[in-house]
Amino acid sequence: MKFFIDTANLDEITEANELGILDGVTTNPSLINKEGIKGEDNIMQRYVDICNIVDGDISAEVVATDFEGMVREGENLAALSPKIVVKIPMIKDGIKAIKYFSSKGIRTNCTLVFSAGQALLAAKAGATYLSPFIGRIDDISWDGIDLIDQIVAIYGNYGFTTEVLAASIRNPLHIVKCAEVGADVVTSPLKAFLALLNHPLTDKGLAKFLADAAKSRPA
Ligand code: G3P
Repeated sequence: MKFFIDTANLDEITEANELGILDGVTTNPSLINKEGIKGEDNIMQRYVDICNIVDGDISAEVVATDFEGMVREGENLAALSPKIVVKIPMIKDGIKAIKYFSSKGIRTNCTLVFSAGQALLAAKAGATYLSPFIGRIDDISWDGIDLIDQIVAIYGNYGFTTEVLAASIRNPLHIVKCAEVGADVVTSPLKAFLALLNHPLTDKGLAKFLADAAKSRPA
């Protein structure tokens, strides 16, 4: 299972990367905006900065919604680095753009996915990654993990090579449940990754070991 971090914040990306278990980064226009980055040049520079930190796949999203615009933007993004994966929204022209990029050997991440039918279309078009937003599904009282489970089964039935990248992760249990149902990738905020570390018995056990270690090493 690959671990991606879902942020455009360089400090968080560096902190996650230093753990040594980071496989990539996903961004979106809201995450870029959250960092206060303004202007096309600065946005492109941020993608380059991320590529310089992480040795892995870096998703950068187009903002055009027409085929020609997505192709133009996606080609510019892909030219920044071989690490760039072009993120394309799940809309009609997006499917055409994914098919186009797949024929050109440019990797894609189909985003804003909320149903198995959408997942089928993206896989048929040759998407490299598929991003179902599980937290946003949970937010409306449906079950995001059920959708991951369903898509993993469908892709398995037909041998689709599109990787299921569970996005919109809200907590550590989402990550564990994604692993149980066979998601290929999770992209998560740093907080949810770090929360995987926590267990009160680990803290209690370590405190006891350290106390006993001190007793065996009198000053
Ligand atoms: O990158 C897309 C996705 O992870 C969005 O998450 O928290 O805005 O639903 P969220």
